[in-house]
Amino acid sequence: MSAQLASNSEQIEFWNGDAGKRWVTQQVRLDAMLGEISAAALKNANAKPGEHVLDVGCGCGDTSLKLAEAVGANGRVVGLDISEPMLAQAKSRASAQKLPVSFVHADAAEHRFEAAHFDLLFSRFGVMFFTDPDSTFLNLRKALKPNGRAAFVCWRDARDNEWVRVPVGAARPHVPPQPQFGPEDPGPFSFGNPGRVRRILAGAGFDVITMKPFDTPMSMGATLDDAVAHLQEFGPVSRLLKDVTPIQREAAVAAIREAMAPYAKTLPVRLNGAVWLVTAKCG
Ligand SMILES: C[S@@+](CC[C@H](N)C(=O)[O-])C[C@H]1O[C@@H](n2cnc3c(N)ncnc32)[C@H](O)[C@@H]1O
Repeated sequence: MSAQLASNSEQIEFWNGDAGKRWVTQQVRLDAMLGEISAAALKNANAKPGEHVLDVGCGCGDTSLKLAEAVGANGRVVGLDISEPMLAQAKSRASAQKLPVSFVHADAAEHRFEAAHFDLLFSRFGVMFFTDPDSTFLNLRKALKPNGRAAFVCWRDARDNEWVRVPVGAARPHVPPQPQFGPEDPGPFSFGNPGRVRRILAGAGFDVITMKPFDTPMSMGATLDDAVAHLQEFGPVSRLLKDVTPIQREAAVAAIREAMAPYAKTLPVRLNGAVWLVTAKCG
């Protein structure tokens, strides 16, 4: 691991461990599940030919590759991430195509950008995990040209997200009480509060901040069995079931299956995802 990765140590460990490896093995499925959200986020970002784009928390590179197609041969995309396994997957995908994209293994909080040469700071679900989002956005802002912009997508509150609310609500009575996380602790839903996002962006020197809610059904699995198995591997349900006994797991999984069954009347199994599509300009 590079010396630059000094802060965000828990996240670095998380995304370089089993979580990062699971994202790699499930990359095709996750990109498909996030397809509608991705398309909306990329449309909102409106990357133009010739632009230079920084894709923060690019993971396995899906959006970096799409942005590279949009900016074309005269543009440039840099994907930045702390996860070595996910970046390796991104590089392997990029090597099969002749696109203007490269990848950097670095912590967004600490990376020293050479100059302010990016037109667009983009992210699909890569900005909610920073231990100190105020200082990290200040750092990222330094990578943007004076007239640059940010465009990213983040989850709204977990309660607005059916794909979390339904299975977590079903499983919770069957598992031991979980450690309570604060709404601003790093994690997928830490940007759910629009006031907080606006405050972070304004503090980093952005203005003209827009946050549009976007809701869309997401395919959770080809069948009910597939969806229930997937939930045990990824996201909030998998964390809930991490340290449970076999009996608790059996009861929780049965409850999840029952709660998900109404969504499996037509296949694939779809539950709603709820996100913010965020844009901001350098002030
Ligand atoms: C939910 S994943 C999203 C990955 C990818 N953008 C996608 O949509 O498939 C979050 C990503 O943010 C990255 N990440 C988290 N904290 C980071 C940090 N401080 N600097 C750079 N990347 C970070 C993780 O390694 C992970 O790849």
